[in-house]
Amino acid sequence: MNTTIEIQINQTSDSKLSQTDFDNLQFGQTISDHMFVADFKDGEWGEFRIEPYAPLTLNPANSTLHYGQSVFEGMKAYKNKDGETLIFRPEENQKRLNDSAQRMCIPELPEEIFMSGLKKLLEVDNAWIPNKDGYSLYIRPFIFATDDFLGIRPSSNYKFIIFTCPVGHYYAKPVKVKVETKYSRAAEGGTGYAKAAGNYAGSLYPALLAQKEGYDQLLWTDAKSHQFIEESGTMNIMFIINDTLITAPLTTSTILAGITRESVLILAKEMGLNVEERFLRVAELEEALEKGSVVEAFGTGTAATIAHISLISVNGKDFTLPEKPSDSFSYNVLEELDAIKYGKKEDPYGWITKL
Ligand code: COI
Repeated sequence: MNTTIEIQINQTSDSKLSQTDFDNLQFGQTISDHMFVADFKDGEWGEFRIEPYAPLTLNPANSTLHYGQSVFEGMKAYKNKDGETLIFRPEENQKRLNDSAQRMCIPELPEEIFMSGLKKLLEVDNAWIPNKDGYSLYIRPFIFATDDFLGIRPSSNYKFIIFTCPVGHYYAKPVKVKVETKYSRAAEGGTGYAKAAGNYAGSLYPALLAQKEGYDQLLWTDAKSHQFIEESGTMNIMFIINDTLITAPLTTSTILAGITRESVLILAKEMGLNVEERFLRVAELEEALEKGSVVEAFGTGTAATIAHISLISVNGKDFTLPEKPSDSFSYNVLEELDAIKYGKKEDPYGWITKL
């Protein structure tokens, strides 16, 4: 849809741009100057505005603070060699935001508000988009409940905000993961497929325990039997066992429908790899690791991009995976994805929206 909305713009007179070291960016620490804001009141979205990025004033009874009625997205914008701004698959984020919102009783956010707000924000903060390989502008749209009310019911009022951060790599080195068979991230019928704030809060404690043991992240298993690999809390997970790429399917409502996940699967099929969307048994993974037939394992996500897994811990045993050579699938698919994202090659899939 091409309808545009009217957006009030209040630009800061105190830009942080000149104090920002674009060569030393920690993920999520440096925030650009402005944010797009909209409010949901009396049954509709309105008051569209761009404001300086600043703290919000919330009443302590704000229902999000107590009951977590909040959903978010993660997406990225890039610069091509001509300095043009390219956004990777934003319409997919808009759809997924609304899928998450529906599950959490949050009102739908129309596409024109999402896209117009996003584009205007990227115009205003265009100088914040890194123009270096490996760097991008991470975009965080989110919606949260704003009623001041302690009863349990969906809020009547909401805020939608988009803010952005220039970023480099989320994982600076290959990732060590541990298969989690005690705690659960998501159960069937729950909110695992939604990008709901609480999903992430609930996974912090088990992840912290694993970090104390020296691992970076967990590989979550299904909540019922703990026998099947699902995803990691920061990314979807893919394995290449012998000559087949295996990743969990989206059939159980427990797995986030990653946009990088889908893009990688499309490219993998084009590159002639066998692809199986099926649940991998923990026992099958362990056996394949014992035999040395896990050729590669990697995570896929907006923030993580393609994150090479260097070690997998299963049932108390640590298995080190081969280094990622330059002829590996994960190396090649990252190159291919980056070439499209940075506009270095043609985008035959219609994934890029130019500002
Ligand atoms: C993303 O990849 O965009 C996410 O939201 C994951 C989070 C770990 C930053």
